[in-house]
Amino acid sequence: MEAVLGMLVISAGVSHGLETSCDARENGSQCYGALGGTVYLQLVTDATRYDQLSFLKGSTGAKTEILKTKKDKWVIRDTPIRVHFFINNGTFRLNNTRSTDSGEYLIETFNSVGLASGTRGLQLFIEAPVSSPQLSSECLSHGEMRVFCSSEGDGPQYSWTLDGQTLRDTETSPGEETNTITLKKGLSGNLTCTIRNYISSDTVSRRILPCPGTGFNVFVYFQLAEVFILLAICLGSYCFYKKKTCPQEQDDVE
Ligand SMILES: *[C@@H]1O[C@H](CO)[C@@H](O)[C@H](O)[C@H]1NC(C)=O
Ligand SMILES: *[C@@H]1O[C@H](CO)[C@@H](O)[C@H](O)[C@H]1NC(C)=O
Repeated sequence: MEAVLGMLVISAGVSHGLETSCDARENGSQCYGALGGTVYLQLVTDATRYDQLSFLKGSTGAKTEILKTKKDKWVIRDTPIRVHFFINNGTFRLNNTRSTDSGEYLIETFNSVGLASGTRGLQLFIEAPVSSPQLSSECLSHGEMRVFCSSEGDGPQYSWTLDGQTLRDTETSPGEETNTITLKKGLSGNLTCTIRNYISSDTVSRRILPCPGTGFNVFVYFQLAEVFILLAICLGSYCFYKKKTCPQEQDDVE
């Protein structure tokens, strides 16, 4: 019963989604939201200061008005169920974000005569959180080990540590982060891969043991195994053939 309750709590937490907030008061702000979560965008310091304010999706060409304020009143034009606006601190809230919410947005403010007093752009990126990281490894010749880290989610960035020390792949240029790393011969310890994107992060750790240092690698073992299987099949067919023919031979003798 306790286990069931725990699972219910976790799934409720997941479906509720992640919350992110972004100060979008500067022109050209870049904001990130978690797919299926809630994103708060502060568009202006105080929306009641403006005679009129418009928040639109799109930059050039076709634009969709999402929200309009007039003095201290606000009206949602588009996606009314998912949107709320806190007029006092100019914060726009969007629930249950979808990937189609990604894109460019415009904030237009107007003065008392109805003339545009300012236009600012903002870019929103909706990302799937990184999840289910996994480690796999293989031994190379000369005792080196190649380790792969994989995950689900948008735009993952990888970093590695061995017993808490940052590792860098010898085969990639400094600063470049990849999902594979080659470890030198004889290294062992607690290997950790950290995966992050703008809205989430996750880690996976595993104790690793040194690879055998001879010229053997996994593929040689596979080839040896194949030879054994072939030998077994040959031996099997030989015996089968013999069992079938031996009685006949005996009959002949009698
Ligand atoms: C804006 O106001 C709302 C409601 O009062 C509050 O929950 C939110 O934290 C505020 N946001 C900022 C950026 O001040
Ligand atoms: C939107 O999300 C906020 C924060 O997660 C929540 O408090 C609010 O009830 C949600 N509104 C709707 C209409 O789902």
